[in-house]
Amino acid sequence: METQLIAGIILGLNLLLFVPFFFLFVPKKVFRYNRQNLFKILSKYKLYIVVLGSVFILQSIEVNLVDRPTTTWLMQYIGEDGFAPFFYSIENGWVASMADYWCKPLLYYFVFFYLVVYSFVLWFIPVIFLLNDKEWHTRFVLLFYPMMWAIQLPFLLFFPVTNVYKYFGLQSTLEMIIPGVEASFYTVTSINNCFPSLHIGFAVSAVIIAFLSDNKRLKGFTPVFSLSVILATIYLVIHWLLDVLGGALLALLVGWLLWKKLNPQSITLSRVKPSRGEVSRLKTAVALLEDKAKNEVKGKGIEVQLVGSVAKDTYLKDSIDIDLFLLFPPSTDWNELEAEGLSIGKRVLEKWELKYAEHPYIHGDFGGYEVDVVPCYKVGSAKNILSAVDRTPFHTQYINAALKRRQRNQVRLLKQFLKGIGIYGAGAEADGFSGYLCELLILRYGSFKKVLDHAPKWSKEGLTLTEGSPSKFDSSLVFIDPVDPNRNVAAAVTGRSLEIFEKASDAYLEDPSIRFFFPLEPKPLNVEEIRSRLGREERLIGFEVKVPVISSEILLPQIKKAERNARSLLEENGFNCKHALHTLAGSKTLFLFELESVVLSEPLLHRGPLAKDEENSKKFTERWTKNKRTIKGPYVEGKRWVVEIEREFSNAYDLLNKKLMKINLGKNIKPQIKEGYDLLRQEDLFKEPYRRFVGKLIEAKYPWEYK
Ligand code: CTP
Ligand code: MG
Repeated sequence: METQLIAGIILGLNLLLFVPFFFLFVPKKVFRYNRQNLFKILSKYKLYIVVLGSVFILQSIEVNLVDRPTTTWLMQYIGEDGFAPFFYSIENGWVASMADYWCKPLLYYFVFFYLVVYSFVLWFIPVIFLLNDKEWHTRFVLLFYPMMWAIQLPFLLFFPVTNVYKYFGLQSTLEMIIPGVEASFYTVTSINNCFPSLHIGFAVSAVIIAFLSDNKRLKGFTPVFSLSVILATIYLVIHWLLDVLGGALLALLVGWLLWKKLNPQSITLSRVKPSRGEVSRLKTAVALLEDKAKNEVKGKGIEVQLVGSVAKDTYLKDSIDIDLFLLFPPSTDWNELEAEGLSIGKRVLEKWELKYAEHPYIHGDFGGYEVDVVPCYKVGSAKNILSAVDRTPFHTQYINAALKRRQRNQVRLLKQFLKGIGIYGAGAEADGFSGYLCELLILRYGSFKKVLDHAPKWSKEGLTLTEGSPSKFDSSLVFIDPVDPNRNVAAAVTGRSLEIFEKASDAYLEDPSIRFFFPLEPKPLNVEEIRSRLGREERLIGFEVKVPVISSEILLPQIKKAERNARSLLEENGFNCKHALHTLAGSKTLFLFELESVVLSEPLLHRGPLAKDEENSKKFTERWTKNKRTIKGPYVEGKRWVVEIEREFSNAYDLLNKKLMKINLGKNIKPQIKEGYDLLRQEDLFKEPYRRFVGKLIEAKYPWEYK
């Protein structure tokens, strides 16, 4: 048969396969795409598509122009079969012996598979994942072939191995079934490009690609496909066993390299996991610090203990804080413990300051690291603590005994994920998940991904690793402390934080991205963009207050309260608030509100008693009928009396101007408001430094949504 006709038939069969495969394997969302979606995807990955396309062009240049001269030159030195004799010496003609078992039906099946199904799957897989548009995975798939090709190129050029049937002088099975096929087949490969087998490489890569995706059907199909390709190359006596092995190893190598370079979790780990050098530098500093502290406590019956994430090897390399505890005998008087503990802290650290949690402790520097030196009591069990920090040594012991080595990096991933989405830490800044809670979650579920899998299913019943009933706690999330059943480790997690975590988990599992771990800064909107989003109405209002320089643990809860109460004030007066935002920058705090409108023209609808309540109805009508503020009514609407009255404030600006001072704004903020504050109108807010916050306010996106 003529070469072109055969190529035409193979192409035709490819297109025929496309129809059922498209309906079986392409994700549902692709069916809803329109031309615009497609165009967006193509332009997003255009560089990758060009690289992939170039590989096919380069391969055909290699086979048709470069391969012959280089092999001819090489063959002068290594013989006309290249390294095939060496391959033969290893397997001793095992593959060639398949020729004894050739039978027509099997030959038809494998030839069809080798030529048609294989070539189809080869291009169909990139198409599926290109259309599926899942950030890292699509890039992974599109780069897989080019990378495999680049690695095997030196073998292609300088490591000729003649294929098995040619070496043994057997008839080509492909030619036997489809006479004339070899001529077209050898325009895309050559007879001595055996090692490593790209057929096997591609077949194995299909399995890797499928198993890293969420395409269940493809997970079922690709192993069968891959096995058939392997069997085909052997049964048709094309490849040596070493070629098969080489092809499979090539795919695994490329899969591993691309995973390391592209997968958001491995990228994150490479940024948050300390290197060996960093670990040993930290260990040296910790050893020196411990020695110094031990010297200070000599003969005083005080124990020095490293606790926290450094002791548990779950710290993030860019935010290391060494937690060093001084354990005093329980008989020590509290004042003495505090005085002695702080004084030791001051002596061992290079620079220090006094900080406060439930009790004071020393925070400072040592050897280039931040350190907390915290005095506590050495009690027999976490159930008998005398102060909250007495539990910490038990936490460290518990985690060190229970957490497996490989799970430490899973904790790091979870911590960085929470940091990225803004809810890491039990302090007021994040209202979120403490480091210890992250460790317990990894213990409970096994891995970072499994924690995310379960997050949307957490409900009031709470979590526990041990006995104990979580139901006695009334918090958004409950996780019983395994060292003290009377404590909820997740007490700081607010409903809002939990909601953010659930949303982020869903979104991450749907399309994992590095943006969850390291969010991008929002691009500031320019005035035109802001105006066009706001429409013609005036909607923005804000105020800026000086704040005292005090710990953010004390200040932040007040700022949040001030925002809540100012928002209520606006809403109670009929100004619907779509979004609110506060920022704490230096010595000032800015409060911003996006209202449905700053000016309200329609009257206030004031609701009265039920019409059947005669006594109160009489009072209501008497009061409002002759009132100066009444515009319309009173009248009955539904079952109730209503009256339309003039608003006390028709402008939110006037409202804040008059009433802001009268509401509860927190004990450290109120006096500042009394001293004076800046009330900001929409036009003021269009100017810097306010404008960038306005963008954030009206976009109201989650941190991972900025692209
Ligand atoms: N701790 C706690 N509950 C908190 C804060 C802290 O039980 N809300 C205890 C934990 O035992 C924790 C230790 O205090 O391990 C040290 O606290 P911290 O430094 O905040 O957490 P780490 O676990 O060290 O995590 P990282 O420093 O990496 O954030
Ligand atoms: Mg710590």
